[in-house]
Amino acid sequence: MKRIAPLLAFAALPVFAQNTPTKSSAPIDTGDAHAAQALKAIDTPEQLAARLAWWNDARFGMFIHWGLYSQWGCHYPGSDGKLFDGLGEHMMMRLRIPRADYARIADVFNPVKFDAEAWVATAQAAGMKYIVITSKHHDGFAMFDSPSSDYNIVKRTPWHRDPVKELAEACRHHGLRFGVYYSLGRDWDDPDVPTDLKPDGWRRSNTWDFPDESKKDFAKYFERKVKPQIRELLTQYHPDILWFDTPEKIKTAQSVELMALIRQFQPSCIVNQRIGNRLGDYRVAEQEIPAGGWLDAWETCMTLNRHWGYYAGDEDFKPSQTVVRNLIDVASKSGNFLLNVGPTGEGVIPAGSIERLRETGAWLARNGEAIRGTTATPLKAPAWGRLTQKTNAAGTTLYLHVFEWPADGRLVVPGVSGKVVSATLLVTGEKLAATIDPAGAHLVLPANAPDTFSSTIVLTLQPPVTTR
Ligand code: GLC
Repeated sequence: MKRIAPLLAFAALPVFAQNTPTKSSAPIDTGDAHAAQALKAIDTPEQLAARLAWWNDARFGMFIHWGLYSQWGCHYPGSDGKLFDGLGEHMMMRLRIPRADYARIADVFNPVKFDAEAWVATAQAAGMKYIVITSKHHDGFAMFDSPSSDYNIVKRTPWHRDPVKELAEACRHHGLRFGVYYSLGRDWDDPDVPTDLKPDGWRRSNTWDFPDESKKDFAKYFERKVKPQIRELLTQYHPDILWFDTPEKIKTAQSVELMALIRQFQPSCIVNQRIGNRLGDYRVAEQEIPAGGWLDAWETCMTLNRHWGYYAGDEDFKPSQTVVRNLIDVASKSGNFLLNVGPTGEGVIPAGSIERLRETGAWLARNGEAIRGTTATPLKAPAWGRLTQKTNAAGTTLYLHVFEWPADGRLVVPGVSGKVVSATLLVTGEKLAATIDPAGAHLVLPANAPDTFSSTIVLTLQPPVTTR
């Protein structure tokens, strides 16, 4: 009976949609598999598509990792003043910092330079359409006003402000969508989160304050902390996205319960598949772009340098050209690109990130039509770049993203058939000569590429491209 309850609650809910089964690597709790199946049964592909419409169109978003670990750039001062390398937002676990000591960072966490408007302006200038911020990372500290846990930024820091609220408001004000990240299965502040892998593994729980694993009960933590906080996030900030992380320990009935909460309070909210147990609306790839893309809606999340949280001294930023080409690569496979920044403890997005975002935004301002609202094509990716497309009954608009501008001015798009309606350079509108033969479309290009990172040619064809 226990697992039926959330489903009954569901029946009365307005719109509910669920993704089709995927090849997700998330574990399946077969004991409750029928609960998940039942959830899927009351969600149609049309409902899912309606929920995901804005997100599919957006293609590009900003991930923000920000928390107590940002304070000293992930370097933790020992009692003798020596700085220990905490290796990112995993600092507390890596250095086995006792929770009482770690909590002291909150005493000095005072991000006086935080400006939600400035973060939103940065995202917007980069051409991003949504923001996802860490509301609670693995350290267990809530970066929002959490009535159910005093271990939060408003109560515990001298700053006493709620950045999730301010950011949600700034996003709404400027027409960006807003999402929250929530660490489900890691919480180093909580006594009841068990270690699910090897005790010395990367994903261990807090074994230094709470060494007795036999006393840990995930269900207690789930009821005491996860459910109340998810409810708070939904009712206080009405997020467009709930971006879960680390679902390894969650049972199907618990994933179902969370989904029920989301559908009850914010039916249009989309959810990544890290809610666990093959639920959720879209898949996530981390730090990689899947070679062939995926059939389900999907997103690649990626760092701009080597760390998610602010790490002082990490100047190893990807060149803007790589960022732009990654975005194109993702879009050419119908995916979204969630690009991360790690603001400092003062609340400032590092200059190296700002510069890449500005250059990416400048490229998107000229070439955004070839990214937003596009999909993958049935054609193979050409050796010189990538393809995206828009189709309607009249034909197909193919966007040719040319990474390597041909020295001889000749470009072949293999596999294209039909009739050329027009071929132009996107940014200048200059018309190009184009013909089609059995080898594909042949275009004659001007000597110089209009853009350095990637140049776009718009090739309109009739009838729609259908072959690979
Ligand atoms: C990795 C990191 C984690 C981060 C996540 C984002 O799993 O370990 O800290 O939040 O990537 O997907």
